[in-house]
Amino acid sequence: MSGKFKSVSESETTITELMIPSYANFGGKVHGGILLSLMDKVAYVCASKHAGAYCVTVAVDGVEFLSPVEVGELVSLKASVNYVGNTSMIVGIRVEALQPKTGSVKHTNSCYFTMAAKDDDGKLLTVPGLILENEEQLRRFCEGKHLKGLSKQKRELLKSDLSSTSSNEMLTLIEQERCIVVID
Ligand SMILES: CC(C)(COP(=O)(O)OP(=O)(O)OC[C@H]1O[C@@H](n2cnc3c(N)ncnc32)[C@H](O)[C@@H]1OP(=O)(O)O)[C@@H](O)C(=O)NCCC(=O)NCCS
Repeated sequence: MSGKFKSVSESETTITELMIPSYANFGGKVHGGILLSLMDKVAYVCASKHAGAYCVTVAVDGVEFLSPVEVGELVSLKASVNYVGNTSMIVGIRVEALQPKTGSVKHTNSCYFTMAAKDDDGKLLTVPGLILENEEQLRRFCEGKHLKGLSKQKRELLKSDLSSTSSNEMLTLIEQERCIVVID
């Protein structure tokens, strides 16, 4: 196999940030958007280290907020390149919140950011291949390949919209749903 290859550990990145009061919503919990922005930042750092180039965010998969994050907690975001295609990389991110007073740690989030590398003219660049050094990295690479295939299928499915579906067919589709149709 030709071309450059890099190990996963060369680009592994962890960012830790203190959750300050201005990050909170009216309920006193940290805004999901703040966490998303931190995830985007760590994904960028990790992807650009692997690619050795400027990167853009292409897609985000699997973001779920499993438990709320409180002001005063230390949020750590651990990112690694799980999979590389030609110009894109899938960066896996694990988010944990540490309550410094008690030492308790909760897993709040895991997700996948697809990032692509670009040159100074905005042209897509081929990224280095990945050296897989243990079973976990091998498993993550296979999961990344699977996710890439699923994302493609989803995009194709979304293209087949319901513009040619009749009103009666749509009414049948939503028969059991919690809505009332009041179209004249
Ligand atoms: C995403 C983008 C790079 C795709 O460019 P394109 O010319 O359509 O190129 P391709 O279809 O060849 O896709 C490039 C790579 O991205 C992947 N890709 C494209 N769209 C994707 C999607 N929706 N989800 C996952 N991967 C995707 C392709 O599989 C391909 O990967 P590979 O080279 O590793 O096989 C381009 O649309 C872009 O630059 N978007 C703006 C990104 C940006 O500015 N992000 C910041 C957030 S605002």
